[in-house]
Amino acid sequence: MRKGRFTSPAPDLAQRYGESVSFDRRLYRYDIAGSIAHAAALAKAGIITADDCEKIAAGLHAIEEEIAAGKFQWDPQLEDLHMNIEMALTKRIGSAGAKLHAARSRNDQVALDLRLYVKTEISETIARLRALQTALLDLANHHVDLVMPGYTHLQRAQPIFFAHYLLAQMEAFDRDANRLGDCTPRVDVLPLGSGALAGSTIVLERELIARHLGFSRVSQNSLDAVSDRDFVCEFLFCLAMIGLHLSRLSEDLIVWSTSEFGFIEFSDAFSTGSSLMPQKKNPDMAELTRGKTGRLYGNLVSILTTLKGLSFSYNRDLQEDKEALFDSVDTVRAALEVFAAMMPELKINTARMEAAAADPNLLATDLAEYLVKKGMPFREAHETVGQLVRQAVEANTTLNRISLENLRKVSLLFDVDVTNVFDVRRSLAARRATGAPSPENIATQIEEWRRKLV
Ligand code: ARG
Repeated sequence: MRKGRFTSPAPDLAQRYGESVSFDRRLYRYDIAGSIAHAAALAKAGIITADDCEKIAAGLHAIEEEIAAGKFQWDPQLEDLHMNIEMALTKRIGSAGAKLHAARSRNDQVALDLRLYVKTEISETIARLRALQTALLDLANHHVDLVMPGYTHLQRAQPIFFAHYLLAQMEAFDRDANRLGDCTPRVDVLPLGSGALAGSTIVLERELIARHLGFSRVSQNSLDAVSDRDFVCEFLFCLAMIGLHLSRLSEDLIVWSTSEFGFIEFSDAFSTGSSLMPQKKNPDMAELTRGKTGRLYGNLVSILTTLKGLSFSYNRDLQEDKEALFDSVDTVRAALEVFAAMMPELKINTARMEAAAADPNLLATDLAEYLVKKGMPFREAHETVGQLVRQAVEANTTLNRISLENLRKVSLLFDVDVTNVFDVRRSLAARRATGAPSPENIATQIEEWRRKLV
């Protein structure tokens, strides 16, 4: 690109600083697809001959194969993948190659490549989310009757089914998949034909290019088209959110795998030992996932910050969008794959979960609701049961062991049927409202997810 205007090549230092081919080469398939579509539009407009167009397409396909085979010589002196591919093409097919860049700039070219890349990665990420959901669903189905304490503030709160917890994760990952789908229409816009910023005096049929490349829409403002990286921000946000969800799941699994909880055990394949303490089995995969969430946020903040002060056009700062994007894609891909493989291998310590869920205090709210159903205002019932909890603690016993006689000392609404309250499965069966963890609801949910995931 320095030929003509410049008399000397850029010094090494500047070349190294400015090159992007070391990382943008991963866009090569999209760059080549874009160039073939562009060549077809140039031919249609009569700027190049049909013969040139064929040569360009054949040459680019050959280059694509060479790159895929790892035989292509990338030259950092040519700065980026666009120039590398264009130069290789001209070397290969001669003057037809030199005609390709008419009515195009690397500014609309790089925007095109990125959009094609993000579109592909969106569908791949959705597929990986679905694979993880399938693993979660199988686990839920396998332990459909397993009761565990539900927590708030990480304190035992009320009983739930383990499946209810897993189905909660299904909801979060489903939002992630839908969110990716929601941002697709804004990614799915063809920027090519915007030139450097102001289109071109060579008028191409952009709709044709869009159809060729599978875009649903064509950008409506050339300046915006080369400026816009909103779609990168949105996609990075979606990936950060997936990281957040995986991180929260990780945190629960880590806590549950401690000796103190003992609810689960990671399989050997997904645990690591300590270099010092022979007895240790560490939940490193979950910890790493929780830790990597930091870089997913960092990548999002990085692109937002890069964009905030940019004059509304292409600026070279935009080259900084790619490494953050690629890093988040790679990080989330790996994490989703690890989780989809790790979850089915979790050893679930059902006895520990059931024992913890048998804590009668988990049913204190049920006891208050028993009184409410007999006519007591809830606030009063809450206080009454609170007193009973205190009495039980002071007498070193549990709520379910207080005699009917003593219960009737605090309220005459207590009757023989109060013993029914202290049955965990009865309590769960009563939680029938939509979204609550009754066995029927859980069975229905599992069935619905199953239908959705096929
Ligand atoms: N490597 C550049 C990027 O990633 C490509 C566009 C360069 N355009 C330019 N006018 N220097 O953004």
